[in-house]
Amino acid sequence: MSFQAPKGTFDWLPPRSERILAVREALAAPLREAGYGYIETPVFEDTQLFARGVGESTDIVSKEMYTFPDKAGRSLTLRPEGTASVVRAVLQHNLHAGQLPVKLWYSGSQFRYERAQKGRYRHFWQVGAEALGAEDPALDAELIVLGARGFTSLGLENVRLLLNSLGDKTCRPAYRAALQEFLRGLDLDADTKARIEINPLRVLDDKRPEVQAQLTGAPLVVDHLCAACKAYHEEVRFLLTASGIAFEDDPRLVRGLDYYTRTTFEFVHDGLGSQSAVGGGGRYDGLSEMLDGPPLPSVGWALGVDRTFLAMEAEGLLGDHAQARVQVYGVPLGDEARRRMFLILNDLRVAGVSADMAFGGKGLKGAMKGAGRSGAGFALILGERDLAAEVVQVKNLTTAEQTEVPLAQVVDVLKGKVQ
Ligand code: HAM
Repeated sequence: MSFQAPKGTFDWLPPRSERILAVREALAAPLREAGYGYIETPVFEDTQLFARGVGESTDIVSKEMYTFPDKAGRSLTLRPEGTASVVRAVLQHNLHAGQLPVKLWYSGSQFRYERAQKGRYRHFWQVGAEALGAEDPALDAELIVLGARGFTSLGLENVRLLLNSLGDKTCRPAYRAALQEFLRGLDLDADTKARIEINPLRVLDDKRPEVQAQLTGAPLVVDHLCAACKAYHEEVRFLLTASGIAFEDDPRLVRGLDYYTRTTFEFVHDGLGSQSAVGGGGRYDGLSEMLDGPPLPSVGWALGVDRTFLAMEAEGLLGDHAQARVQVYGVPLGDEARRRMFLILNDLRVAGVSADMAFGGKGLKGAMKGAGRSGAGFALILGERDLAAEVVQVKNLTTAEQTEVPLAQVVDVLKGKVQ
């Protein structure tokens, strides 16, 4: 049997692959406008970075990491997310010694060994942003606004924003204890009971109806926030409202990574089925210290590029008309014509006109079929008689009108026509 892409992965092929590039660009564009600098980190890191950063008790670390020993016996892991790597890079290069916050964005592949289904892949793409070293509700609000702008710039209308606060090290312990006490009184299976002791907040996120039914009276973190966390959260909410960004308070919103404190949020789209989150993030004030760095209160998000694409599809934003690959298509008839066409194409491209031609010695009919498929507006037909006369036939593929143009002028003439 021939090879297939590994389970949970897929290939992006033309013409859809062009659209996905444009989606990545659109999600990142608002960040550039707000002074975020581009960072690229390795696709694999020391396994311990994620174990400590993302949290041993999370599904990501306990079940989903692609971990392998290298030839020298180091344990490495393909990155399941970008935040831990960015904090590692900031600490390693002392970026936090300069002006704060350090604002960075990234775009790249992430790897999680998840149960594959629509919208949930083992290899997927995120555009992410992190602002490190400042505790300021305006920074949280800025990032949320920039994320929302990315989605609206793509024409998406049905992305909803869910907002919550998880408290901080002052108020979270008391909330955690109250939640644990409540959960211990429920009728739950052994695995879930074990989770109560390790990470009780995650139990709130359990999607099973029989669990959800028992959670109606569970204590909510919003009711346990300390004065500082409450004021902080109110300011984030105020700034979002003032910016015209609609949000829904979701006191049950729990994220799948352990590093969050205070502000947490998710962008969701209802056209995606069960994998509805198109992006998510929040504040992670303690992560730097967990990675042996100084206190560096920070906030960030990551948007799922693949799911954003699915959301666009669900809203009918992709259309089905194939985009033109090139503007001009060369149809050389004979060896000498092919040599000349090859050079004309070079000149056209240098002049900013995209061009392709028939390769493999095709005859007129086959070559014209290629011209049609390329989506080009113009075909350049060059036969032996044309060559002798130093002319080329320029055929407008929309109107079928054909004109003869001197070879010396063809680049200028086409430049005028395609603009
Ligand atoms: P996350 O919620 O795990 O957060 O992932 C962010 C987004 O990546 C999700 O909302 C989703 O759109 C996409 N995503 C996650 N897993 C998959 C998958 N298996 N298949 C397709 N798309 C997926 C983070 O990764 C945090 N690092 C975000 C963050 C940055 N928090 C602070 N700074």
